[in-house]
Amino acid sequence: MPPSKKKTIYACQECGHSQSKWFGRCPACGEWNTAAEERIREETARDAAMQTPAPQTKAQPLHEISVEDSQRLQTGFPEVDRVLGGGLLPGAAILLGGEPGIGKSTLLLQVADRVSANYGRVLYLSGEESPAQIKLRAERLGSASPELLIKSETSVEEMIADIREIRPFLAIVDSIQTTHWSELTSAPGSVAQVRDCASLLIRLAKETATPIVLVGHVTKEGQIAGPRVLEHLVDVVLYFEGDSHQLYRLLRGVKNRFGATHEIGVFEMTGTGLHEVANPAAIFCGASGQRAAGTAVTVIMEGARPMLIEVQALAAPFHGHGFPRRASSGVDVNRLAMILAVLEKRLETPLGTRDIFVNVTGGITVDEPAGDLGIAVAILSSFFDIPVPPHSIMFGEIGLTGEIRAAPGAEQRLREASQLGYTNAIVPDANARDLLRQGVSMDGRNRVSKIDEVRSLLFSS
Ligand code: TYD
Ligand code: MG
Repeated sequence: MPPSKKKTIYACQECGHSQSKWFGRCPACGEWNTAAEERIREETARDAAMQTPAPQTKAQPLHEISVEDSQRLQTGFPEVDRVLGGGLLPGAAILLGGEPGIGKSTLLLQVADRVSANYGRVLYLSGEESPAQIKLRAERLGSASPELLIKSETSVEEMIADIREIRPFLAIVDSIQTTHWSELTSAPGSVAQVRDCASLLIRLAKETATPIVLVGHVTKEGQIAGPRVLEHLVDVVLYFEGDSHQLYRLLRGVKNRFGATHEIGVFEMTGTGLHEVANPAAIFCGASGQRAAGTAVTVIMEGARPMLIEVQALAAPFHGHGFPRRASSGVDVNRLAMILAVLEKRLETPLGTRDIFVNVTGGITVDEPAGDLGIAVAILSSFFDIPVPPHSIMFGEIGLTGEIRAAPGAEQRLREASQLGYTNAIVPDANARDLLRQGVSMDGRNRVSKIDEVRSLLFSS
């Protein structure tokens, strides 16, 4: 057999597509100038890195598989466990993405400490900080578990050896962008390094039944730096998000092979690390009293959890040349354009002569169609300069003909809002009919089926 040959491939730094010929534009994702040369040995090198003869495991009959095999470890943070779908499964590969500085290392060090206090050895491998730096952080967090092991490491082969030797209950690799495999000539953080190091670690997770968390930095555009293929390789993808200038952080599950997705956990960043927020429904909207014109409170569903959020809008006179501005934070600009077009056409409000700014407080993103009505009401409230009556919430999707469509989970949304003192509501007619049928009271709740009814209800003075 010939010795393993070096081979050159070209990999797209954007999507991970690779081929033997150079390309100017990636045939897979269409990005320009993303080809990077990668030198890689033949498949034999991958196997050598794992340094084990393949274990001769056999497929088992389903009924013989003991449930213990798949028992979940509790992280000690109920909010984290909920997002994970009940805890950490042995052998699970979990990707934790987030912008630099958002608190990923802090969260994982706290989780590592609690897991090791409850179960035993946990290995925290960091390519970003020295053990002394991690120690300083741990002191601030009050972490003290004697079985929490820390190592500064960037070599994936060493990591594999460490995990094999230590056999931890949980291993954390912080971050996948600083991890490198000596078989590849490309720099750490390149698409090939990220992808291949991750696949080696994922294989190891399965083989040793160790849950492994990989930290992935996210670029400004919101993508895990390097390949999106990482998301396809792992079992669970979590994002840690929020505005780093504010206190609150959201842990969001976007993929989970073992549980429900779209769950969120809410944390507060304090001087002593992250603390769970037990009742987060109201943190982004404040008290239910009178507000200024241009604000509206809506209820969005984050997984199974209703959250009240405040939408602010400013419809300012436009004096420039060309097109008036449409800017938004926390709302997709295309969605905003659609809502504005409906308001302009169906209500004959001259919004085309206004600059429009929309902002969702707290760094939250409204990507649920049921948030449409809150956005529309905030804009109209600013346009007419009439505040929304106090203690009011509204939700519902707006269709192109101006119809207000039903939202899922209406009863839950209304219940949460009432508990927080928001006793008035504007509810899509289709939801209201269902609610009445179920015997839910419509006291203080107005039903609407068209956007013009919303205007007459709130802004006809
Ligand atoms: P870090 O976990 O290092 O972020 P990441 O790993 O996602 O890059 O978090 C860094 C920020 O968190 C930093 O700005 C300091 C802040 N912080 C606190 O406010 N309180 C704390 O107890 C700790 C440890 C960090
Ligand atoms: Mg970090």
